[in-house]
Amino acid sequence: MRKKMVAGNWKMCGSRCNVDALADAIKKGTKSFSTKIDIVIFPSFVHLQLIENILVDTLVSWGGQNLYLGAQGAFTGEISGPMLVDYGCQYVLVGHSERRIIFHEDLKLIAAKFKTALEYGLKPVLCIGETLAEREQQKTEKVITEQLESVIELAGIDAFRHAVIAYEPVWAIGTGLTATPEQAQEVHAFIRKLLAKHHPDIANTICILYGGSVKADNAAGLFAMPDIDGGLVGGASLEAKSFLAICENALEKAAGSV
Ligand code: 13P
Repeated sequence: MRKKMVAGNWKMCGSRCNVDALADAIKKGTKSFSTKIDIVIFPSFVHLQLIENILVDTLVSWGGQNLYLGAQGAFTGEISGPMLVDYGCQYVLVGHSERRIIFHEDLKLIAAKFKTALEYGLKPVLCIGETLAEREQQKTEKVITEQLESVIELAGIDAFRHAVIAYEPVWAIGTGLTATPEQAQEVHAFIRKLLAKHHPDIANTICILYGGSVKADNAAGLFAMPDIDGGLVGGASLEAKSFLAICENALEKAAGSV
């Protein structure tokens, strides 16, 4: 049985003061939670120290929203895997659509970042997903295949034993337009089928999150789908009440499944 996960991607949001309050509320709100679900927070780099101070020795893990290749060097503005590890990160987002589209990260760079994350002991959360135009042109499976195969080719299928995948249709991110549970399930099942061609066991055990306008009122329907193992939450993770409600939905599904 796969474990459910709820992850909060705080993107470029928050100040010292409200990150402190939000992390503290999440710490308090998850105190009574069991280890049946994984909870991960992705704050901005500058708030990692704050998060480490507050969330150390809790059930909540944290990670970086991005990383660059190598351990250190002349790469102004970048941050490395070892730097994230130094601040207690266990995870790192790789290939978020905002990185692919706004910052022009291509398939090759994303695959290299995925491999780099693993080399430094970080669990990459590989984000994949199609744009609205690609969906309308029935290219969803083609796009997903390219985004996955480019990583498998460089890092190898075994690398996925230590990774998480997040299916995030670009048209559902920050738009309030969530994929229906059926639409998301269809793509999640396709992702598992594609991985199964390489390694059936990894396809069965890997955690595949859905992301794109996940809210407290739609999480239950999404998390009930057989191939959806939780959510990568943007906007709704910036408020403790809605983030905790989404976590509770995952917890209910985890409890119901034993
Ligand atoms: P929203 O939940 O705000 O749509 O963001 C999703 C996302 O991009 C998470 O990585």
